[in-house]
Amino acid sequence: MTQASPVGQATSLFQEQFGSGPTVVVSAPGRVNLIGEHTDYNGGPVLPLAIERRTVVAAGHGEGWAAVSAIDGTVHLLEPDAPSPDSWTAYLTGAIRVLRRRGITLRGARLAIASNLPVGMGLSSSAALSVAATRALVGLAGNKVSAELIAEVAYLAEHDEVGVPCGRMDQTVIALARTGSALLFETGNGAMTQLPFPGRVWVFETGVSHQLTTGDYNTRRRECQVALRLVRDYGSLVTVLAAIAAEELPELERMLPPPWKLRLRHVVTEVARTHAAARALVARDLPSLGRLLLEGHESLRQNFQSSCAEADVLVEAAVQHGAWGARLTGAGWGGAVIALIPDEQEARVAAEVSDDFRQRFGRLPDAWATKAAAGVRSEKSAIGDRRQS
Ligand code: GLA
Repeated sequence: MTQASPVGQATSLFQEQFGSGPTVVVSAPGRVNLIGEHTDYNGGPVLPLAIERRTVVAAGHGEGWAAVSAIDGTVHLLEPDAPSPDSWTAYLTGAIRVLRRRGITLRGARLAIASNLPVGMGLSSSAALSVAATRALVGLAGNKVSAELIAEVAYLAEHDEVGVPCGRMDQTVIALARTGSALLFETGNGAMTQLPFPGRVWVFETGVSHQLTTGDYNTRRRECQVALRLVRDYGSLVTVLAAIAAEELPELERMLPPPWKLRLRHVVTEVARTHAAARALVARDLPSLGRLLLEGHESLRQNFQSSCAEADVLVEAAVQHGAWGARLTGAGWGGAVIALIPDEQEARVAAEVSDDFRQRFGRLPDAWATKAAAGVRSEKSAIGDRRQS
């Protein structure tokens, strides 16, 4: 089944609802995280890549603010000066407010949004919306800003304005990703390295939706903060959990009660796995990368306790049927599993994994493959051909 591209959809929606073509059309990808889970708010490294599914924002000037999404087709009037609404439009008003504080002001805008990115599947649909909207608004205002600033504005919009307790991984990779690359982002010092990722990643959606605004993610963040405080009480000088050396772990674990010792173990070992994964990517050693993914999943399951039965079944089946490795990606408690599968076995492994899942849960998972895609970018709109750079 071929679907209309989200660029075409957003452009037509804009035209239908607002009566003329958009001035700016921007798309931003979702992301999968290869490894480095729950490390970004602990000062550690992450290794995500942008996926081929994207969210598109078509934008034009206007008096006052209005937005429409292809999901509900209703025009929402936005009130950037009112408290954040309990709806997806909060990401837009959040971005407008942060941009104003940075001196990028507009009297108003019309925005039409379409996406082929699944919502609530741990693929960063909200960060894709925030980044695309930020870049579209900046373009509409006639400004040019760096991808780093776009990431920062989108992060502040989500974190400070909408109140999502996220780290910086998603907005950063969505703004800065390059085609064919994964991004090693050291959240501790901001260093970024693009690493080659020429192959494909398989995505198996668990069908279990999880929102960051619900309690589990926040609980883990707080547990990590308590673990840091305890470690410092025992004399360590670190200011973030990720800075603890692997050699210090056994002794600290003896002193820390559960659950904090388990959270600490996850973060410290995940930092080491992420660096090892970056080395495996550089060496094009996919079997080693696969093993690290599996170890990462085991740690999420046992130490961070953020997995779910659906993800565990997908990971186990993937490996049993021939994947190099697989793991839950994103925040967890649902969402999606990624798998690295040798090229020539992709179709068979994907079918067998899906079948195992169906036998256990009575439904087929959505399963698809993606290459590493580009970050946020301007698009040529189907109507009017107004290209922005
Ligand atoms: C979500 C957050 C990220 C990160 C991951 C877990 O995707 O938005 O900042 O914390 O969870 O690694």
